[in-house]
Amino acid sequence: MSVKFTSSTQAIPAVGDVPRHVAIIMDGNGRWAKKRFMPRVAGHKRGVETVRTMVKACISRGIGYLTLFAFSSENWRRPVEEVSFLMNLFVTALQGEIGKLHANGVRLRVVGDLSAFEPRLLALIREGEALTANNTHLTLTVAANYGGRWDILQAMNQLALAHPEKVGHFGEADLAPHLSMAYAPEPDLFIRTGGEQRISNFLLWQLAYSEFYFTDLLWPDFDDSALDAAIDSYRSRERRFGRTSEQVIKGVTVSPASTFRSPTAKDDA
Ligand code: IPE
Ligand code: IPE
Ligand code: MG
Repeated sequence: MSVKFTSSTQAIPAVGDVPRHVAIIMDGNGRWAKKRFMPRVAGHKRGVETVRTMVKACISRGIGYLTLFAFSSENWRRPVEEVSFLMNLFVTALQGEIGKLHANGVRLRVVGDLSAFEPRLLALIREGEALTANNTHLTLTVAANYGGRWDILQAMNQLALAHPEKVGHFGEADLAPHLSMAYAPEPDLFIRTGGEQRISNFLLWQLAYSEFYFTDLLWPDFDDSALDAAIDSYRSRERRFGRTSEQVIKGVTVSPASTFRSPTAKDDA
């Protein structure tokens, strides 16, 4: 199945009441545990429960794509015990959840530089992706050893190798199919829990026109009503994609050709 999605910088995407794609930085696990005098890793374990809750919440709200940042390319800098706990948790979570995800019609995808993972984990990822490949209720993407800069660079390298003759003349549409989430529309709504207001090298390319929502809630405390608050905020935003508010109200869409053309009196809206 190959579906082409609108690039927010090439054309004006359709905007609905419910975000098609929600991308989340699940932050605050360590602080959640610390507040309870528990080891940081207890927060990660509890965080898996929130993942389960969010998968169900997205299905019941008709959200087609949920993307979760589970481990960044910079998280290797953490203490070795925490990194190895997270890797084991990933294995256990996959073993425990894949069957349930499949039964709920969820398609699983894992994006990131997976070459760094041990073979046992890599095999589980591949098995899970293969088992759920044809499911259509929700596409759950887990970003693991993911970095936005890595993603753009790997896409650029793939493209340059495939078309050495075109180097120096690539356009956005040439690069987009090589990005690791080319199978999904760009995120409509980006949520970060845990109070920090930064991207931390998440989906740099894909978040170009996403609506940002930050909450102080720690990831293990994030729940259905917190998701609804984020969606309510999303609904209240005017997504202009470069146009004026008046143009948005009139429903003016600009064709890709005219995006880069100087305006004439005729184009005046
Ligand atoms: C997010 O929670 C989970 C991962 C980065 C794996 P943190 O572990 O970053 O929690 P805080 O930010 O230290 O509270
Ligand atoms: C971002 O959280 C990565 C994930 C949630 C997986 P971090 O907690 O690692 O982000 P920084 O380091 O505070 O920016
Ligand atoms: Mg953190």
